[in-house]
Amino acid sequence: MTAKAWGGRFEGQTDPRVERFTESISFDARLAEVDIRGSTAHARMLAQVGLLTDDECQAICTTLAEIGREIATGQFEFKIELEDIHMHIESALIARLGDIGRKLHTARSRNDQVALDLRLYVREAIARIDGLLGELQAAFVARGGSDLDCIVPGYTHLQRAQPVVVVHYWLAYCEKFQRDRERLADCLKRVNISPLGAAALAGTSLPIDRNCTAKLLGFSETAANSLDVSSDRDFVIEFVSCLALVAVHLSAWAEEWILWCTTEFGYLKLPDAYTTGSSIMPQKRNPDVLELIRGKSARVIAAVSQLLVLVKGLPLAYNRDLQEDKVALFDAYDAVAACLELAPAIVAGAALQRERIARRLEEGFLDATALMEYLIRQGVPMRSGHEIVGRLVALCEAQQRRLAELSLVELQAACPLIAAGVFDVLGARNAAAALVSLGSGGPAAVSKQLAHWQARLKIE
Ligand code: ARG
Repeated sequence: MTAKAWGGRFEGQTDPRVERFTESISFDARLAEVDIRGSTAHARMLAQVGLLTDDECQAICTTLAEIGREIATGQFEFKIELEDIHMHIESALIARLGDIGRKLHTARSRNDQVALDLRLYVREAIARIDGLLGELQAAFVARGGSDLDCIVPGYTHLQRAQPVVVVHYWLAYCEKFQRDRERLADCLKRVNISPLGAAALAGTSLPIDRNCTAKLLGFSETAANSLDVSSDRDFVIEFVSCLALVAVHLSAWAEEWILWCTTEFGYLKLPDAYTTGSSIMPQKRNPDVLELIRGKSARVIAAVSQLLVLVKGLPLAYNRDLQEDKVALFDAYDAVAACLELAPAIVAGAALQRERIARRLEEGFLDATALMEYLIRQGVPMRSGHEIVGRLVALCEAQQRRLAELSLVELQAACPLIAAGVFDVLGARNAAAALVSLGSGGPAAVSKQLAHWQARLKIE
């Protein structure tokens, strides 16, 4: 039987089923690295304020590093009787250093320890997700130069609306992921606050220096209220909420590309490495990776409510319920990171089916709005222009023709203000070129946006 670190007042043994029920080592072992970093800083601070000698501190730090290496290389044995990662590391330290090891937990509780570990972990998770989002943006921007000549239908209600340069789509995703990055940067401000020294809930009578550990660990602040910070998981919920938005953006992108890869659209072909075949239908080329990117958003969205429900009825301060925060956090983080690891290669490898796109580009009256705006320039009130073009579209539909195929005489019959210059805005390519407003999908505006993104992400 392994003696419990908290076993002093107990006579009976813990029921093994309770051990299995209460353990978290099966999911918190990944905190080992941050736990050791936090404990090392704690030991240094204890030495600075005289609660450890320099030699004791040295022995603790060296041994913690050794334990860390063993864990990292899989040479460390985990047992559920030791509950969680904090107990594993501390008991290994005590097994190696005896009484010196028994001093590490001075002026600390697992409550502030686990809060610290999570903050350190989330801080790094934010940096990783931010980096991955940057790589995904870069993949979209890197396509920009060669895709600038490709005009595609823009849709509303998934109905053909107005033509845009396809790069306008790529950069639209970049904007969304940029907001995700900004939200993460803002979230980091509230993550990067040290809880250490809150101890169990009330602080301590011992002469600790909380600002010292905060500084050693690179925190920008020390939390002001021990009760608050030992119960606070806002930062986890906030981070997972940021992840949920990333997941939703990824999912919507995946959905769009799944559509674009269908025979019905036929705009894109995915690289072989990111599609799978069917076990029964030999012709199939399924976008499984995109489908799973879309599918994994479900668990990330669910994690947000899981966490909110977890904390909604908790009295101050630490309650064991909080142990469950890690399940939702890690699951959401792993899912989003896995999607982001694959997404850039899909973006880079997808081939635009330019001919297929061009062949059907004149379907759906993508130039109708351009014609209406031409009429406005000719002095026709907008609502009248809308009506005139509507009638012309109906005429074309009845005769299976396109607006650009109408003769000047036919066009002038609908509106005498129409002149020969009208043909400069008719046809999808002309209609796209006519889009010039700031942030629009026309070639000049999109080139400008692309240059901005290339400079921002330092891409040639
Ligand atoms: N494994 C626990 C958790 O993740 C660590 C904190 C335990 N604290 C306690 N007082 N039992 O929340």
